[in-house]
Order: sequence, then structure tokens, then C-alpha cells
Amino acid sequence: MYTPRLHPDTIEEIKQRADIYDVISEYVVLRRRGKDFVGLCPFHDEKSPSFTVSPTKQMYYCFGCQAGGNAIKFLMDLHKRSFAEVVLDLAQRYQVPVQTLEPEQRQELQRQLSERSQLYEILASTAQFYQHALRQSQGQIALEYLQQKRRLQDETIVQFNLGYAPAAWETLYRYLVEDKRYPVQLVEKAGLIKPRKESSGYYDVFRDRLIIPIHDVMGRVIGFGGRTLGDEQPKYLNSPETELFNKGKTLFALHQAKAGISQMDQAVVVEGYFDAIALHAAGIKNVVASLGTALSIDQVRILLRYTDSKQLILNFDADKAGNIAAERAIGEIAELAYKGEVQLKILNLPDGKDADEYLHTHTSADYQQLLANAPLWLNWQIQQIVKDRDLKQATDFQQVSQQLVKLLKNISNIDTLNYYVSYCAEILALGDARLVPLRVENLLTQVAPQNNIRAIARSQYKSTPELPTQTNTKTPTTSEKSLLEQAEALLLRIYLHCPEHRQTINDALEERDLQFSLSHHRFLWRQILELASESLEDDLISRVQDRCLQFPEEMALVSHLFQLNERSKKEILRTPQVVQATTACMERVLREKRYRHFLELWEQTDPQTEPQRWQSYYQAFYAEKLRLQQLDKQRQFSLTDLL
Ligand code: UTP
Ligand code: MN
Repeated sequence: MYTPRLHPDTIEEIKQRADIYDVISEYVVLRRRGKDFVGLCPFHDEKSPSFTVSPTKQMYYCFGCQAGGNAIKFLMDLHKRSFAEVVLDLAQRYQVPVQTLEPEQRQELQRQLSERSQLYEILASTAQFYQHALRQSQGQIALEYLQQKRRLQDETIVQFNLGYAPAAWETLYRYLVEDKRYPVQLVEKAGLIKPRKESSGYYDVFRDRLIIPIHDVMGRVIGFGGRTLGDEQPKYLNSPETELFNKGKTLFALHQAKAGISQMDQAVVVEGYFDAIALHAAGIKNVVASLGTALSIDQVRILLRYTDSKQLILNFDADKAGNIAAERAIGEIAELAYKGEVQLKILNLPDGKDADEYLHTHTSADYQQLLANAPLWLNWQIQQIVKDRDLKQATDFQQVSQQLVKLLKNISNIDTLNYYVSYCAEILALGDARLVPLRVENLLTQVAPQNNIRAIARSQYKSTPELPTQTNTKTPTTSEKSLLEQAEALLLRIYLHCPEHRQTINDALEERDLQFSLSHHRFLWRQILELASESLEDDLISRVQDRCLQFPEEMALVSHLFQLNERSKKEILRTPQVVQATTACMERVLREKRYRHFLELWEQTDPQTEPQRWQSYYQAFYAEKLRLQQLDKQRQFSLTDLL
């Protein structure tokens, strides 16, 4: 690609138009945090979000890897492209007229841009043409099909710009090329006509089909789906990929649904065009359809832009063979779900119906009820594993527990894992409550066997068992670490911003001998304690900030704690519970290490030769376990929800 020298005005205008949130949210799932947004940094691997996007400053910054800049810098770094390439892309996207310093280049660029706008125009004219044809006598069968078979009101037919492509071979061609004088190459580029193979000339792609226009998020027509009115194959013919129509980044009906999605803070994805149309007609307006392909990560990210809670419900068909489209569709989304970036739920309608069919015999309230009860994806998977199995049969039991273990191994968030381990343990205990702890133990050893750690522990402690310290047991996994990091950060934030709670926090930490585990938190805590001893607590934040300035590296890691966003403000109002939950979380990590440590020692001790030692290890790990259970009760609400 040649790189023209762009006019400074053009660059300035693009900077103005390319909204940072718009640009970044296409690649990163962002959550609102006060005035800003946060997400997982695309420039380094992380499990808890330190990547911040500020719409007011139009900047992003990562506290983890220090990447930062404006929208243009983001795209340059992400795609490894030059400044000029990124700017030209953005110019196209935001329809900014490009001025270059050399006039010849200006012409070429204007040509490219005007080609795109002509393509939009051609597609819009085509949609009108098809809509018109639906109301002519040639469209009568199609119209009756919509009204009778699909039970659609006129209002809906108009709202979705439904149309009819006439049966003859060249009607659209004549209209666009001969009447409206659009260049034939452009009409072909729009995916509407094809050159004849045998002779010269062109023929229409869509013939004798019901037409469903596909719009982009701004409501511009970018392609069409065409349904046969008879038994021809394929049942649906779709526009080919074009410069404007990218199936993997398009969702049918999004421009109609985006307001509903934000309003209900939840998006529903169905499989068929008519499922989406029928749901909208029934007043359920947060619905889009995938385009007959597996849902891509891009599509999910687009949807998640409109919801704060990141709730996505897939309503895909469960077909007769028991193969569930949802499984196929989830594919790449799985990763987002396991990381907790999307709250994924699955809805399978009774009797393998699709939404359109379901609404023929049920009300929209019925459907809404099903939506409200849709299981989370993990629960749904567990249901699928257990379904039609007889756990009293040894083989079924074995297979089911293996599949459950496999599933549990995917869960990276420790809270979620704990929850699902007991959930599965209850299933495997078959209603016998006494069996639950045993099943929990079984599942846990299979999910996190830590063989190598055991071996190390064995060689280290065989001769001189000593009390565990924080460092001589296993290092925490990343998700434990991130939960801990969040808990510690929250506690520090409360300490900094709420003088009235400082005593409580001091007491809680001292009583239970808790330390901050992360070194940058320990660093901050040290600064706080030193200043506190000077009893100058009023202006604590700015004093701590001043002190931290000498330590820029540590500062970068803790500086977000000095600000208070909307959410943490709200949380701080419930401070007593939060202090309890966060300290419970900190203590839990400590106790868990001790529990594992004593358990390992106990396992390595021979009850025959050292019965006393064996007994005391048993008591020690059992005591830790009881304390762990207590702590879990104290963490009634998940910390991740607080942050
Ligand atoms: P389905 O075959 O599940 O049909 O296709 P449906 O939506 O229930 O169709 P109706 O109710 O018989 O009209 C689901 C979606 O898959 C895509 C379309 O987007 C369709 O809406 N599809 C299906 C195609 O693209 N081509 C096909 O041949 C079939
Ligand atoms: Mn259908």
C-alpha cells in the first residue's frame, strides 16, 4: 500500500471522529468502571483487567504493561500498521473526506471513498426495489406467505424492509444498470448480479425469493438474505462477502435491537432471520440473529458493547439427533465465558422448536419466562452431561464424573470453581448429603492434582516438618492471585478513602495476622503505616501519593487506588460487609495453603510408625478445613461482583 502524505486537517478530523471506546471495544471486552472502562489488555497476557479506556481523555492506558495512547496508536500497535494506514482506514470508517498534500493522490483516495458510498447507495436502491416488488402482483405469493405462514403484521414487514425478488433473470440488472445508470462493475461488486458464463451479459443473483435485507449497526443495507418460497435449495441464499458485508462481523437486526439490548442489559442471539423478526414483532426487542454461521468472537464483542452486565443468551435449536447447535456456536466464545468476560446463558426451547415456531403456540410472556430461567452455560453443560444417565449404574457414574472433571478443569476463577465443585459433588452424591464432602474431595484431587508440588513437599519436609510459612507451600494460581489482588486492592481503597473505617481494617488485619500478599500492596501499606504513625490522617491520599512519587514503578501499580469510581463508591457504602468479605478472602488464601500443607504432611506420614504425628497433622488440616468453610460463608457475595 502506498502511503500518501495526509493533510493535517484530515488527521485532526479523524482524531476527533474516531472515538476511543468505539475503536477499542471492537477488540476488547470493556466494562464500565465509573467514567472509564476496563478490560483485559490485548498487549499482554493477563487474567484480571488492568487495561483502562478513558472516553473523556480519549486515551487508553494499561497499568500492567504501560501500553498507552490514543485510538490511532492503539490500532497501529495492535495491527502493526503504519500511521497512514490506520488513519486511512479510520477515514473510510468514519467517512471523513481525505485530503492529501499531493493532488493526484487525493483523486485516488476520493475514488475509493466514493466507491464505498456508491455501493451503499446501490444496496439501498435494491432494497427499495424489492420492497416495491412485494406490493406488486408478482409479489403476491410472497406477501401472502409472510402474512399467513409467518403471521406477520404489515407493520413488521415494513419495519424489516422485507421484499420480493422477481422471478425473471434480469429485472434488477435492468433497473440498476439501465434505468439508474449505476456502473455494472459496482453492481456486481455489491453481490447483486453475476456475469453469464455462456454468453455476454449479467443475471440477477436473487430470483423468486423472499428478501430479507441485512443492515449494519448504523442501519445501512449491506447485504440480503433470500428465502425460497418453494423447496429449492438452498433454503436461504445470502449475499456474498463484499467490501461492505462481512458475515463474521455482522448480526442480523442489530440496528433494531441495540436500544433494546442496552435497555434490558442483555442480548439474545437466535439462529434464524425469522426467529429474530418474530421476537421483535412479539415485543421482545433485544434480539439479533447470527447469519447461519457459528457465532464469532467479533460478533460477541460487538454485542457486548451494548450491555454492562455482559449477559448473552443463546437461543439455538436443539435438533432431534440431540446435537445442539449451541455447542457448535459456542466454539471460540468458550474462552471468554471461562474467563468471566461474558455471562453466557443457553436457552433451548421445548420440543426442539425455534423461536418463530414457539411463538405460534405461546405468548411473548412465556418466552420471556424461559429467558429469565435460562441456565448459565456451565450449568447447561452439566445438565447435558447428566441428562439421560443413570448414576446408580457404575459405567454411567464413571463416565459422568470424568466428563464433569474435564469441565471443571476449564474453570479458571477460583470462586466459580469452588461453587461448581460442590454443585457437581451434590449431583454425584445422589441425594445422600453425607457423601457430599467425599465427592468434593474426589473432584478436587482430580481437578487440581498438584503431583509435582506433592513430590517437592515430600522431599522438603520429610525429615523436619515445620510450621508452614506463606512461601514454602504451593504458589497461588493466577486466578487465586487475581481474586486476592482485587480483595486487597478494595481493602486499600477503603482505607484510603474512608477514614472512619481505618480502625476496623487495622483491627481486622492485626487480629488475624494478615499480610498483603502482593508486593506492590505491601509497599503501599508500608507507606500508609509510616504516615499514619505521624498521625496526619486527614490528607492521607495526597501524602501517600507524594511519597510514592519517588517509586514510579510501584506507583504505576497502585495509582488507580487513589481514585474512586462510581462502583467502588457504592461498595464503600456497604463497607462493614466489604471489609469482612475482603479479609475473609485474604485469610482464605492463607488457610488454604496451610490446609494443603498439612494434608500433604498427613499423606506422607505412616500411621503405623508415627501414629502421633499422623494424628496431629490430621487435626491440623481438619481445623484449617473448618475455618475455610466458615470463611466461605463470610464471603457471601463474590468479590468479583464488587469490582
Ligand atoms: P434454519 O434452517 O434453522 O431455518 O436456518 P429457519 O430460520 O428456521 O428457517 P425457516 O423458519 O424455515 O424460514 C437458520 C439460519 O441459517 C441460515 C439463515 O440465516 C437462517 O435464518 N441459513 C439456513 C442459510 O444461510 N442458508 C440455508 O440454506 C439455511
Ligand atoms: Mn424457523
